[in-house]
Amino acid sequence: MPAKIKVSPNGPYLVEGEFEIVDAAGKPYEASKKMLALCRCGQTKNSPLCDGSHSSSGFEGPSEARPL
Ligand code: FES
Repeated sequence: MPAKIKVSPNGPYLVEGEFEIVDAAGKPYEASKKMLALCRCGQTKNSPLCDGSHSSSGFEGPSEARPL
């Protein structure tokens, strides 16, 4: 299944499917995840993953699709 990224309301990017996340040097973060949440609020202490900090920080981010 190709990867799908869902923008959650006032929360993370939810990534589901076949994917690999690597650092700047190409080293993978996770070996075989099928789903995870990527932080988009900038408040996580576990970058690049969401740790739930968006809730207490009051982060607001649009989640409706619009032309890019
Ligand atoms: S989106 Fe959840 S901690 Fe940033």
